Amino acid sequence: MIPVLAIDGPSGSGKGAVGMAVAERLGWHYLDSGAVYRALGLAAGWQGIACDDEAKLRDLAAGLDLRFVAADGGEPAVFANGRECGALLRSPETANAASRLAALGSVREALLDRQRAARSAPGLVADGRDMGSYVFPDAFLKVFLTASAEVRAQRRYDQLKAKGFGVTLSQLIQEIRERDERDARRAVAPLKPAEDAVVLDSSALGLQEVIDRVLAMAKSRQ
Ligand code: DC
Repeated sequence: MIPVLAIDGPSGSGKGAVGMAVAERLGWHYLDSGAVYRALGLAAGWQGIACDDEAKLRDLAAGLDLRFVAADGGEPAVFANGRECGALLRSPETANAASRLAALGSVREALLDRQRAARSAPGLVADGRDMGSYVFPDAFLKVFLTASAEVRAQRRYDQLKAKGFGVTLSQLIQEIRERDERDARRAVAPLKPAEDAVVLDSSALGLQEVIDRVLAMAKSRQ
């Protein structure tokens, strides 16, 4: 069986940067499942589909032509139905749209197979909210990264500022709390650690420290 290392956690926990770095060190593939939900949110917006129109969103999700095109040393370019998502993929508005449609059971179901299809040799690092608890329950290592809302908001603030988005810290703390609440309370695949996940609080840890800890855990289990 091709090994999967699941890294789940809320927005701003650092799971993206950690997941990408761990995948690179192991020479494994990397699945950014949040980008799948975000791309669907953007594609829905382009087609004028509301974030609570479950039937239309499910059909859009089932037929979505989604491509990740590797870019030198950075995040891959993401194309949804042939259109490049660009910087909008990471905007706070897209994050909100993604969080809303991610609460719809049949939409999640329609995205399941394409996430599982990312499992390919020699291994996969899967980053998201339900990678260990639902999408890859047989992952050999499940890490649930957390950090306080303030620390996560500060990280998101730094990332979004660097990308040129005009945001305020207080607005981000508020949005992160609302999104956490929605992601944790939804009936389908709520954001919570898998029973067998290792919970790692990164509030007081540097990025490299978290990467090293995850790599050490992976090594000790292989
Ligand atoms: O990780 P992110 O911020 O890119 O995720 C955006 C939204 O997508 C998040 O608010 C919830 C949803 N999501 C999800 O429900 N399940 C996943 N595996 C990944 C993301």
